[in-house]
Parts: sequence; C-alpha cells; structure tokens
Amino acid sequence: MESISIETSTILGDAESMDAVISEVRRGLMSKRKSLAPWLFYDDAGSALFEEITALPEYYVSRLERRILRDNVRSILGQALSQADAPVRIIELGAGSAEKTSILLSEARALSSDLTYVPIDISPASLEGAQRSLERDLPGIRVEPIVSDYVSKPIKLDRFVGITIALYIGSSIGNFEPFEARTILRNLRNQLGYSDALLLGTDLVKPEHVLIPAYDDAQGVTADFNRMRHRSRLSPRD
Ligand SMILES: C[S@@+](CC[C@H](N)C(=O)[O-])C[C@H]1O[C@@H](n2cnc3c(N)ncnc32)[C@H](O)[C@@H]1O
Repeated sequence: MESISIETSTILGDAESMDAVISEVRRGLMSKRKSLAPWLFYDDAGSALFEEITALPEYYVSRLERRILRDNVRSILGQALSQADAPVRIIELGAGSAEKTSILLSEARALSSDLTYVPIDISPASLEGAQRSLERDLPGIRVEPIVSDYVSKPIKLDRFVGITIALYIGSSIGNFEPFEARTILRNLRNQLGYSDALLLGTDLVKPEHVLIPAYDDAQGVTADFNRMRHRSRLSPRD
C-alpha cells in the first residue's frame, strides 16, 4: 500500500487540521467502500500541483471554462445584476487561485462601484495568492477570504444589503457523490435570497479519448496530485 504525506499545517491552517485529517482518514478507510475526501489534496504543494494541472494541454476543463466566462461575462452578469449600481457581493466555493474568477470580477467592477469578493477555500496558501493578485490587478474590490471546509462546516454569510452572486465553478461539484453535492447546494441556497444568483460550472459527459488524458496527463502531474506525491519532496529513491 502506498503511503501518503499530507502537510496538515497548510490545510485549514491551524491545529484543528490535524484532528480533521485524522478523523477523515479514519472515516474513509474504515468504510466498506474506501474513500478520502477531495480536500485532503489541497495542502500547499497539492494546491500548487493543481495550478500546474490547469495549464496542461490535456486538462480542457480550465481552458474551456475560461473561454466560456470570457465570451459570456456580460450576459452572465447582466442576468444576475438586475438593479443598476446596487452593492454586489461575489462569493465563491473552492475559489483556489481565483484566476478565472478575475474575468467576472473585472467586469463586475465596471458595473458596480461597491464590490466585495468572498473567496472560500480550505487552502490558506491559495487564498493568500488570490488576494495578493486581485489587490494588485483589480484594485478597488474588497477581498474578504474565508478559510473553511464548506462541506463539513456549511458557510454562514454575513447579512448583506445588495445582490449576492455565488460561484461554484471549475467542475468542483464533480468531486462529490450526488448526495454530498445536493447537501452543498442546499446549504448554499439557504444563504441566498430571492434576487441573488448562482453560477455553477460543471463538466458534461465526454468521450473517453478526451476524458482519460485530462485526468492522466503525459507528464504525470495529475498522477502526482492524485497520489499526493509532491515532486519537490520526492527523494531520489522515490
Ligand atoms: C478543483 S479546484 C477548483 C479551483 C478553482 N475554483 C478553479 O476553477 O480552478 C477545487 C478547490 O476547492 C478547494 N476545496 C476542495 N475541497 C474543499 C472543501 N471541502 N472546502 C473548501 N475548499 C475546498 C481546493 O482547495 C481547491 O482550491
């Protein structure tokens, strides 16, 4: 059996992460059908590997979603923002580096002078990187990151006067069993009001010759990510 090493201090970012990892590994490996929750991938090194994956030629998901957002940003925001110049809050589950989100944020900033972005992620390093690049490239947006596990601790948003747009993109929902995905969406819906909006980015069925290389690339980056084998830490005998 291959052993895995997870840098617990870099997920969730404090002592509770060790307890959370132990309890998730125990739950997953004691179940009849063995499994581990996807958040375990995303320590600092895993988050950096995921960013490498998004730039691989085989990983069509990020490239296509970026293109869809670029081509449709006006109509997406036009539908979500019915009231002109109301305060706008964009929240995002599993925001990661927020690289694609910057397309929406840039356009939203042109439409509203009062824009807040609340990226929610289990990885403090990803959120710090996202905040740094947004503050540099898109000044004027309030960035209020939340480090949290949105599965085990359903998010509680502050009251907000204005329009909230929730983002759940990157096909992250595909990492979950249907019952978990339903719970995530139900929890999110409970935080949204009648005139708020949800943008869900999810993959559809693909032919095998497209799907398999996307998750088993020629350079082996996804294999390292899946095995939590973080290249920088591998010794020569690994
Ligand atoms: C597939 S990546 C998507 C990142 C980004 N949204 C994109 O589209 O490129 C999933 C992201 O969700 C975060 N994540 C995974 N499970 C999580 C959980 N249970 N709670 C909070 N964040 C989680 C990871 O740290 C990672 O940044």
